[in-house]
Amino acid sequence: MAEPKIAQKAPYKIDVEEGKKYFWCSCGQSAKQPFCDGSHSMTEFKPIPFSSDSAKTVFFCGCKKSGSNPLCDGTHKNF
Ligand code: FES
Ligand code: FES
Repeated sequence: MAEPKIAQKAPYKIDVEEGKKYFWCSCGQSAKQPFCDGSHSMTEFKPIPFSSDSAKTVFFCGCKKSGSNPLCDGTHKNF
């Protein structure tokens, strides 16, 4: 299993909209972090869908190592 690229060693704070579908970049190659821009096509990674039933602020994982992806679980503090 290939390792994802660490986009940044911190989460991305994003205000998400109610019911909107987002696609979190799991490969770390996207130029539009934390979201997928299709750059994973040459890798074994796939984007992870995310949606919320309410408008709120969430923290998407930037290090790509979270055990609770697509959201940050604090794993980035180990780097
Ligand atoms: Fe990373 Fe799509 S660009 S998962
Ligand atoms: Fe990846 Fe926090 S940014 S776990």
